[in-house]
Amino acid sequence: MCGIVGYIGPGDSVPILLDGLKRLEYRGYDSAGLAVLNGTGRIELRRSTGKLANLEKVVSQEPLQGSTGIGHTRWATHGPPSEANAHPHRVGGLVLVHNGIIENHMELKKELLGEGRSFSSETDTEVLCHLIDRQSKRGLALPEAVRAALAEVRGTYAIGVMSESEPGLVVGARNGSPLIVGLGADASFLASDVPAVLPYTRDVIFLDDGEVAILSASGVEVTGLEGERRPKTSTRIDWNPVMAERGGYKHFMLKEIHEQPRSFSDTLLGRYSLERGEVEIEGFMLDEGAVGDIEQVVIVACGTSWHAGLIARYWIESLARLPVTVDIASEFRYRDPLVPPGTLFVSITQSGETADTLAAQREARRRGAKTVTICNVVGSTATREADAVIYTHAGPEIGVASTKAFTSQLAALFLLAVRLARGRGTLTNDAARCLLEDLIRIPLRMEEALARAGEIAALARRLAGARDFLYLGRGINFPVALEGALKLKEISYIHAEGYPAGELKHGPIALIDEQVPVVVLAPHDAVYEKVLSNLEEVRARGGRIIAVTDRADESVRARAEAVLDVPATHPLLTPILFALPLQLLAYYVSDLKGCDVDQPRNLAKSVTVE
Ligand code: M6R
Repeated sequence: MCGIVGYIGPGDSVPILLDGLKRLEYRGYDSAGLAVLNGTGRIELRRSTGKLANLEKVVSQEPLQGSTGIGHTRWATHGPPSEANAHPHRVGGLVLVHNGIIENHMELKKELLGEGRSFSSETDTEVLCHLIDRQSKRGLALPEAVRAALAEVRGTYAIGVMSESEPGLVVGARNGSPLIVGLGADASFLASDVPAVLPYTRDVIFLDDGEVAILSASGVEVTGLEGERRPKTSTRIDWNPVMAERGGYKHFMLKEIHEQPRSFSDTLLGRYSLERGEVEIEGFMLDEGAVGDIEQVVIVACGTSWHAGLIARYWIESLARLPVTVDIASEFRYRDPLVPPGTLFVSITQSGETADTLAAQREARRRGAKTVTICNVVGSTATREADAVIYTHAGPEIGVASTKAFTSQLAALFLLAVRLARGRGTLTNDAARCLLEDLIRIPLRMEEALARAGEIAALARRLAGARDFLYLGRGINFPVALEGALKLKEISYIHAEGYPAGELKHGPIALIDEQVPVVVLAPHDAVYEKVLSNLEEVRARGGRIIAVTDRADESVRARAEAVLDVPATHPLLTPILFALPLQLLAYYVSDLKGCDVDQPRNLAKSVTVE
């Protein structure tokens, strides 16, 4: 998830681009850059690593000026944050900014290298820049060259392109990553999101996938990928600037909850083959032989990431038939852990900077384990120190409460489980194909689950006054109960505990009275009947039952005060969908209580101290 801006008009583009990038910095902030067509018809670049302030410094030291330009703030996906990997990328007189992932970049790069082209970055983006340049050299005008190059790539993109040979144009295109066009009186703007253009215009066109926008100072033309004209109507934006930064959502957490269908797909993108029932993860170092040598898996993480690890244990054990232990990082590092030969150590960390997780990973390496990290932040310490990385590609998560990073971790871990199972021969390719088909349907099911947000907001109004909550789940949904309780307590400051439902009568049942909401996860899986018995135990003590289920039959309805429906899926995948109503419930309760949803007290997004 990166931020793109573009400008063409009568003014100096530099302050407009920098201001737009500042408003998009929430989308990524590991490096930034500008390309501006100067008065002599040359395109000049300025790029810098780190936050936007560094780029501003570079621009003030080496000023540039011009009335056409594009800019970018980066959230690295391919290649660590560095000046060479920062956008815009240049090939000859052509420059490009990109948000998304070019899935087939490796094969295209091989082809382009074979033609004698050279690369100056490790990004997937530079491939696209070469493809457009190749089409231009074949005599196509910039818009046609862009369309022809896009026909050669697979993956997601929002791009902005300009060329010294066609100085009056900026071309944008989108597929799977957001891109809007701003319509000024005598200027046109391109941006990943509305806030970047709000100071200049409130009239925007939202591009759809497969559309190309050709911007000039006098207006904008939109076409499809075949060049056919697409009539578009503009929308007048009446959000205030703060709302606009959150995409119209009241808080980043709510925005990130609703982004999950997209972020989940991004994690899966280009990493499986349905035909072969295989998972292929770039950067995952274990070949078939090495997978065969694994004798146990040790997963280590903190907080929400630890909950993802607890769920992954069920997947790896049942699919790959490997023993798995899951540890809290701060415990692992201090307990003289056993790491026998054949241990695959998996750390899970959104930030890649959590001190305890890093220390545990170092300890495991010291003891000879192969280490893999499941991480969201490219170039973070965990990714630099691990033997291999599986990036989650969820985009920056701003809300302190982890939501989309969690479900993307689950997507990555499920792929890992299938990969291990295929490598060990414990899963046939037919069985793997069926599971992968269910997995790639999850984003659609997520949309359905999120469409019920209104019901959950209404329920939150009835529950927000409670002092304690219990969350119960069994088997693979027990970690979801832990996650639901953590979400609620961290942002609403209500005491909440997650328990395996079967443990209820061993202690926590003493807490139940008519004041305590008990959220029970009840998918129709192998332990459904057992969960019904637990509902009965709660009901007999007057507890308020909130049942979350994938088919609200009579037995559930008769016992529960409220039922939250979740779309049905494969029993192994239920935790991914069952997490969503719990995130929404925590969000609405917190908001109703007037808490600081995105920055709850005493917490930090990244815990870099012990
Ligand atoms: O960046 P990490 O995944 O390593 O962070 C681990 C925890 O600090 C984090 O998941 C925390 O529990 C979240 N605030 C939960 O919403």
